[in-house]
Amino acid sequence: MSESAVDAPDLHTPGTDTPDFDTIDWFRARPLYQNPYPYYEYLRSHGPVWREPHHGAVMVTGYEEAISVYHDATTFSNCNTIAGPFTKWPVPLEGDDISEIIAEYRDLLPFSDQLPSFDPPKHTAHRALLMRLITPKRLKENEEFMWRLADQQIDEFLAHGECEFNHEYASPFTLLVVADLLGVPEADQPAFLEELQGEQRPTNSSGPMLHKPLEFLYDRFTAYIEDRRREPRDDVMTKLATAPFPDGTLPEIHDVMLIASNLFAAGQETTARLLGTMLQVIGERPEIQQQLRDNRDLIPAFAEECLRLESPLQGQFRLSRVATKVGDIEIPAGTHVFVMPGAANRDPRQFDDPAELRLDRPNGRQHVGFGFGIHLCAGAPLARAEAYVSANRLLDRMTDIRISEAHHGPADARRYEYTPIYLLRGLENLHLEFTPIS
Ligand code: HEM
Repeated sequence: MSESAVDAPDLHTPGTDTPDFDTIDWFRARPLYQNPYPYYEYLRSHGPVWREPHHGAVMVTGYEEAISVYHDATTFSNCNTIAGPFTKWPVPLEGDDISEIIAEYRDLLPFSDQLPSFDPPKHTAHRALLMRLITPKRLKENEEFMWRLADQQIDEFLAHGECEFNHEYASPFTLLVVADLLGVPEADQPAFLEELQGEQRPTNSSGPMLHKPLEFLYDRFTAYIEDRRREPRDDVMTKLATAPFPDGTLPEIHDVMLIASNLFAAGQETTARLLGTMLQVIGERPEIQQQLRDNRDLIPAFAEECLRLESPLQGQFRLSRVATKVGDIEIPAGTHVFVMPGAANRDPRQFDDPAELRLDRPNGRQHVGFGFGIHLCAGAPLARAEAYVSANRLLDRMTDIRISEAHHGPADARRYEYTPIYLLRGLENLHLEFTPIS
């Protein structure tokens, strides 16, 4: 049983198995994150946009409505994208236009130094700087690295005929792909793995090791950038260190360091969760596994369906600067709006039979799993390449990939544990068995 289930309050209507959604505060309902979809349907029954009663957050489950919020970066600020209504502002968010309040206090909010929380014009300049690093040429080189890396990771466990996919493949793979993209020297990559692998691991002697991933990244990238500015070389890290803003000015070392560090935060766990979902489906659905084996051209559509059905990022907050309307709902200035790709991607007005995985869905790529608008995921091409390369190499090197009954139970009574966080969706672990191809 997951920890979340152990210390959870009882959220069910007495005498039934049905959660009492009318009284539930979603943002404090940890056990329900194991399967959020019934709650999303409850929200949808109130319409595509609905103000939940506990925090006054406006929940956007409709596809069109989600697009309209993503699209309108003038009305909606990203300053609260992760914290939502759960940060206390020094002054009330009152007035016809709260832009000045946002400008004055946004730096006090969590994640305020990270690109996803910026608004234009700062966002425009910093995003442009980032996009100078993710050029088509760099992506091509990075993809070549992915094919080699996939094989190396698989070599580690192939002969065992089983693996815990997240920790033995998805997590190190996605981390090292970002490290390669940024030009982290190969000799330093083991230290990155050691410091940044998702969780605290016990040491041999003195109990849990305390990992401070952001501090580690900030220190490393500050040192790399200082070094390359002092002594430029013909390498990727020098390009990172010397790239100018669009107006030609050279960014502060601190700004470049933040952009590089943010790529690990934004790009690793999200993509690892996508890979986990893909392999879960491959293990659960032998007919889909066979279709993918027979026709590798189906892998991209398969990855899109996995992103749509189990969006690794389930929601992002926005803060309305002025009064507006989303769908039929009036939104005063200072409202926290929760845009929910996890729900919008299952909007039946947009996707027929939305809970079904269909490899031939004509509009399968129109999901908002990567967001939309000016904050559209900067790493989407990278994530798509990681999905393509990984699925191909795993199918090439093993047959009969199946879910471990010893760990997840029999086919008719599976036990899966999902991340107990409402912003994220993905398996905590995935035990697979397979027959190696030698
Ligand atoms: C399956 C994997 C991924 C998913 C589902 C995902 C999803 C998202 C979403 C929904 C956003 C928009 C957030 C918002 O609107 O507030 C976003 C932004 C972002 N993502 Fe991803 N992402 C993935 C992989 C990656 C990768 C591999 C990278 C880079 C290494 C990356 C870098 C970023 C960055 C830098 C932003 C901020 C963009 C901005 O604010 O302009 N992501 N991602």
